[in-house]
Amino acid sequence: MLQITWTTAEPTPVAGQLLVVPLRADHDVTAIAPRFGKAIADAIQSAHFHGKPGESFVFTRAHGDALERVLVLGCGSFAEASGLRTLAHDAVRHAHGVGATRVVIDLRAASIGELPWTDGDNATVRRSGELVAQGAELGSYAYERFVTEDKRGRRTVQEVIVWADTAAPGEATKRGSIVAASIARARDLVNGPAGLVTPSHLAGVAEEVVESLRASHDVAVTVLDREACLERNMGCFLGVAQGSDEAPKFIHLSYRPKQKSRGRVILIGKGVTFDSGGYSLKPTDGMLDMKMDMAGAAAVIGAFEGIARLDLPWEVHALVAATENMVSGRAYRLGDILVASNGKTVEINNTDAEGRLTLADAMVYGARLEPDLMIDFATLTGACMVALGPKIAGVMTKDDSLAEDWLAASTRSGETMWRLPLPDDLKEQLKSKVADMKNTGERWGGALTAGLFLSEFTEGRRWMHVDIAGPAMASKAYGVTTPGGTGFPVATIIEFLSGDVRLSAP
Ligand code: BES
Ligand code: MN
Ligand code: ZN
Repeated sequence: MLQITWTTAEPTPVAGQLLVVPLRADHDVTAIAPRFGKAIADAIQSAHFHGKPGESFVFTRAHGDALERVLVLGCGSFAEASGLRTLAHDAVRHAHGVGATRVVIDLRAASIGELPWTDGDNATVRRSGELVAQGAELGSYAYERFVTEDKRGRRTVQEVIVWADTAAPGEATKRGSIVAASIARARDLVNGPAGLVTPSHLAGVAEEVVESLRASHDVAVTVLDREACLERNMGCFLGVAQGSDEAPKFIHLSYRPKQKSRGRVILIGKGVTFDSGGYSLKPTDGMLDMKMDMAGAAAVIGAFEGIARLDLPWEVHALVAATENMVSGRAYRLGDILVASNGKTVEINNTDAEGRLTLADAMVYGARLEPDLMIDFATLTGACMVALGPKIAGVMTKDDSLAEDWLAASTRSGETMWRLPLPDDLKEQLKSKVADMKNTGERWGGALTAGLFLSEFTEGRRWMHVDIAGPAMASKAYGVTTPGGTGFPVATIIEFLSGDVRLSAP
């Protein structure tokens, strides 16, 4: 954790300090000349610096008796608030690289021009405080558990000072740091190899999270083993799990707020810790990243921790039906018929469509807790990636106000999502001659038929499905995202439960 403070007075330079001066793409580079001198301005210009995000220029200047390092950082146009988060992220990441211990980010209007947060309006200043903290903390993120100690990146930065015209409240900074920690928790779980992050490991992390919160919050965790899931007739979940030597775990985290609860929310995360495809085996290329098939689980566990630490006013239950999808003499077969906990029967025509089977029993379990709303997050279909690309999640629900409130939260958090339909006529594809339904439809519209399959297990509750197959993992760095697990959509879950959510009349 960094020590992050805001100040309106110029911070006195200290050894190991890096001064970060953002330069906007819509600003004249020569505007920097009066402050640092013409020679520096000329040098920046001749380096073809345009103020684009990611561009940087470093120089050293005499400041009093000391030498001070200055980093001029391109930051685009700040058209979106998330630009501020990226700026703080880039500043800290760069500072680690040059071994600085303290980063001063100059956000004064005199330095970078008028921006939304400089008007002193409470809401925008608070928001800026949050985004800067979130970005700065994520600037230190790397998954290095399996990197030999002497080969790990240096983490030298301890302190960040934001030099601005109005100071953001400490509360805002605290919120940003908590959201970043929740995102980092989710990233670590996704980045962990499947040999480490097993269903039992996920259950252990859930228990650790609850243990760390217990003293100050009303939280609990229950982990059901294979036997207990059998008692609850979770035939679809256990059907997927039967081929694995790793014990399946059904994880149930719960949190009750100190203040009056605004409603009961169920968050379900797909927790397939490795997806080989089963007998519908994936080829190497398709299997390569399938340790990430528990990103939904990682997100709900990470978000759960943040929700409690921020004392959000909802009763929240996070559910994960954790298992591997493997091949063995005991694995489920094509043509098998599984019975879900609500009695519905499913003919298996593809063992690689395992996620929806694990989610089906989790949704029935969730619905029985009589929630006001239920949301599942799942790396469910390659088809959703084909439709929306690698950075955008697909949102499916029949509930317009729920979709609107959720998408508004995602816009605020800077995580991109897009609504997809649940067309009833495609349900025909899931018709089976021998059971209530098949687990897969035809190739075209695969994200939608997956959503339609899940809609059979809502037990009449308000429900939304978020397919995160694309954005759960990044192949290259962008914004505050490093390659690997992204922590998507932890920020939106927390933002959603922090804002206005309409509940339909019971
Ligand atoms: N976990 C995969 C979906 C996935 C694919 C996530 C690529 C992230 C990246 C899921 O279990 C799966 O295999 N889905 C199948 C469904 C098909 C058999 C109907 C798919 O997308 O091919
Ligand atoms: Mn699969
Ligand atoms: Zn899967």
